[in-house]
Amino acid sequence: MVTKQFKEITAAQLYKKLKNVRIGGTVCHYSLKKCQEYTPLINAINRLKQEKNAVILVHSYVSPEIVYGVADFVGDSYALSKDAMNTTADTIVFVAVKFMGETAKILNPKKQVLMTAPEGGCTLADAITAAQVRRLRKKFPKYTFVCYINTTAEVKAECDVCVTSSNVYEIVANIPNKKIYFLPDKYMGDNLRYEMRHRGIRKDVQFFNGTCYVHEDYTPDQIFQIRTEYPNAKIVSHPECAPEVCANSDFVGSTAQILDYMFKSRSKEFLMLTECGLSSRLQVEVPHKKLVGSCTLCKYMKSNTLEDILRVLKNPARRDIITVKESVRRRALKCVQAMFTYTKKGK
Ligand code: 13P
Ligand code: SF4
Repeated sequence: MVTKQFKEITAAQLYKKLKNVRIGGTVCHYSLKKCQEYTPLINAINRLKQEKNAVILVHSYVSPEIVYGVADFVGDSYALSKDAMNTTADTIVFVAVKFMGETAKILNPKKQVLMTAPEGGCTLADAITAAQVRRLRKKFPKYTFVCYINTTAEVKAECDVCVTSSNVYEIVANIPNKKIYFLPDKYMGDNLRYEMRHRGIRKDVQFFNGTCYVHEDYTPDQIFQIRTEYPNAKIVSHPECAPEVCANSDFVGSTAQILDYMFKSRSKEFLMLTECGLSSRLQVEVPHKKLVGSCTLCKYMKSNTLEDILRVLKNPARRDIITVKESVRRRALKCVQAMFTYTKKGK
């Protein structure tokens, strides 16, 4: 999704867009009054972004006033890293979490990359360190080390191939080595093992023990309950969910693939086992489709605010500017580039 050239937005226009969003009580519920508070900030950001030749990349989990107010690109982590690779802007403002901004910096060493999340954490990226990967490589010397994009630059620098939730199965299927060590998500690792077996591809998949605190809490019981109450509802989940959740879902994919499935599906009802940002995108973009059950908020993604975007654009503090040591960046770049190479090969 790409927004057009800057044109001032009015509170009424913003409200018209966001009025159907009904998630997480006060966090994601929009009134005209709230939109009146947001529009001066949105217009100031969009004006400044043009003056500074900056581009704003936003993950779909971020709050709707940001997604629909100031984003130039909105997407999943794979699409956003491609957008970061292709941009001609001088400055990239990454509105998501730190590992995504770091990936943009790995790909664009000469550009300024700013992040707006105060801590930018992610329980997966924080689950493993480079020293732990080095120890694992000694323990599993014959294995190809595949890391999820939800890792730090230092961890990527120790691994062979980076993947995202949108390409993990295709990439691992195409890696010649049968021995794969996947990190850091234990559920995605287990889903990967299952998927390879299901496709008849012989792989010995070992994995680390990290989890996403948003996706690890979903259970098959939630699915069974919804199937009884809403027999026509389609259940969609993210591969960071437990294998027994994914196995009982109608569709499993990256955040962009989930949205695409729901946009195209003939079904009118969905249970979405992922972060609430996707629910709000559905409510804004396909309002006649209904969500049943509830979703969960990622406190890291939702910590991004319009105020912080304006602040970092105007005058970034040191902690807002993403830096990656050149020796680390060069090695991490090989790992990220391997993802693009394998993705092309798979096509
Ligand atoms: P996607 O690449 O599917 O957007 O996933 C990123 C993420 O952090 C999911 O929790
Ligand atoms: Fe990380 Fe989970 Fe938040 Fe995604 S939803 S950014 S994996 S903590």
